[in-house]
Amino acid sequence: MIYEKRKIIIDTDPGIDDAVALALALFSDKLDVKLISTVSGNVSLEKVTLNTLKLLNLFDKNIPVAKGSTRPLIKKAIDASDIHGETGMDGYDFKQVDESLIVKQHAVEAIRNVITENIANNSKITIVAIGPLTNIALAIRTYPEIIYGIEELVIMGGSLGRGNSGVLSEFNFDCDAEAAKIVFDTATESGMKVTVTPLDVGLKALVYPEESEQIKNMNIIGDMFYHLFKKYRGGSFGTGLKMYDSCAIAYILCPECFTIERTYVDIETTGTLTYGASIIDLRNYMKKPANARVCIDINENIFKQWFMKSIAEFNIN
Ligand code: RIB
Ligand code: CA
Repeated sequence: MIYEKRKIIIDTDPGIDDAVALALALFSDKLDVKLISTVSGNVSLEKVTLNTLKLLNLFDKNIPVAKGSTRPLIKKAIDASDIHGETGMDGYDFKQVDESLIVKQHAVEAIRNVITENIANNSKITIVAIGPLTNIALAIRTYPEIIYGIEELVIMGGSLGRGNSGVLSEFNFDCDAEAAKIVFDTATESGMKVTVTPLDVGLKALVYPEESEQIKNMNIIGDMFYHLFKKYRGGSFGTGLKMYDSCAIAYILCPECFTIERTYVDIETTGTLTYGASIIDLRNYMKKPANARVCIDINENIFKQWFMKSIAEFNIN
């Protein structure tokens, strides 16, 4: 039986954990990555776009890249260079890049074009958002008709409890809470299928030193991961590195890793102390209908088996 590959767009801010997630998606024979859009987040738009090109060159994958927002909708940009390094992907000497992969359209236009083309072919696109949601919010507000061409929006973001950027805010949502709120409000209003892999599952999706050593010796991409892991401060090399963004790809390729609940999600945008907090109402205190599916737990063993096997099986030319 010939399986049709699942068509996806990845919106990303590489980012060391983004780099791993991008590889897992691009080397999967179950996914057809139609577009990579970049967004200011971990580091500047220019840097995350350059990092995307560096990765595509190493992966030998010719995927169109569309540059998106240079900053959040309202607040000033923050960054995570303390976690990913000044370049956003410190630790490895990447070779030249192919800037011709960058399309002339802004990410919003490029996302719209890919979705519109697929609507015309009676097919839908899954969007995987592993950075701040600025591009996604702009796209669905500028071209609301594309909502009906989105099979599912899979988001790495938010937290069931405490944050990693603010006391109660996860980084992607802390970067641009207004964008995140637009996404969840749109899910409420339109029924757009949204699935979230929050911090809480990423905190359990850990790569330990012995696994890093195994990954290093798997192939040239594993070797690159190893060198990035030495610089990555999302956790620590010695006690476990948090593969936040890989959870979004794992949800698509290995859904059996996760325990999922449908619930109501909203985003705090006005609280001086709570800006960016994701209100994930598992006990229905707010009495609002569910607007999202949230991965509330992960089976670490199933995830790790999938993660290590996937990297070992990268089909590198
Ligand atoms: O909070 C984790 C998220 O913030 C991940 O997407 C990571 O890349 C950083 O951008
Ligand atoms: Ca990211």
